[in-house]
Amino acid sequence: MEELLQKIEEATGFIQQQTEVAPEWGLILGSGLGVLGSEITDAVTIPYNQIPHFPTSTVEGHAGQLVIGTLEGKKVVAMQGRFHYYEGYSIQEVTFPVRVMKALGIDKMLVTNAAGGIDTNYAAGDLMIISDHLNFAFQNPLMGKNEESLGARFPDMSDAYSARLRQLAHSVAEEHATKLQEGVYLWLTGPSYETPAEIRMMRKLGADAVGMSTVPEVLIARHAGIEVLGISCIANLAAGILPQPLSHAEVMEVAEQVKPRFIQLVRGIVAQA
Ligand code: HPA
Repeated sequence: MEELLQKIEEATGFIQQQTEVAPEWGLILGSGLGVLGSEITDAVTIPYNQIPHFPTSTVEGHAGQLVIGTLEGKKVVAMQGRFHYYEGYSIQEVTFPVRVMKALGIDKMLVTNAAGGIDTNYAAGDLMIISDHLNFAFQNPLMGKNEESLGARFPDMSDAYSARLRQLAHSVAEEHATKLQEGVYLWLTGPSYETPAEIRMMRKLGADAVGMSTVPEVLIARHAGIEVLGISCIANLAAGILPQPLSHAEVMEVAEQVKPRFIQLVRGIVAQA
């Protein structure tokens, strides 16, 4: 565990050699949503493969770099591209950057993803505020010895997705007349998409959207006392709802269409939080 503290310190120290910015917001930009990183001004960009102990990202649509600078007058650190459990990284590797962002000083985190819509009232292109999650990967990055200096052994998850930030998101969306859904995100490992039977089961269990990320980072963020807001881009309706098969190309295409609304929403939230 000492090893973890040392790794965090080395990664953080390396980043602080490149920039004096002490960020208050951490932004994790999911599939196709990395574009927000280019909205950051006075930016210092650091490829993941240069940062000590960072894994490197492989998936199409994920640039794989930290962008540190200013957005709406606020100091931010953005992950342009994230690590997924299905890529073969350990769950600790997937969440290591959240530890580093915390050490850099963030106290708020926006985590975004592309997800499949399970609620049949959803449409591809909708944005969904995450109200809560279901962990269907049954993996937890907090397993093992707890480092008390990082957080509690048994962190509370009853307010994992900040009511304050969710309310703010809705008020920003209202200002821009942007439709916003809110619902429960279910995490599973992937990388295969779900079967129609799995989606019917998940709907019965209370899931509104499904995806292959986000929950591990949120578990670590909450352990670290970071206030979290989650936004899913509903990239497609989940398996079996419509007759056509699911494809990553479709996911990326919808994320592309959502970009302007997504950027406007996030700018408004960051400006006011
Ligand atoms: N299922 C899981 N993950 C996803 C989906 C989906 O339908 N769409 C985008 N990410």
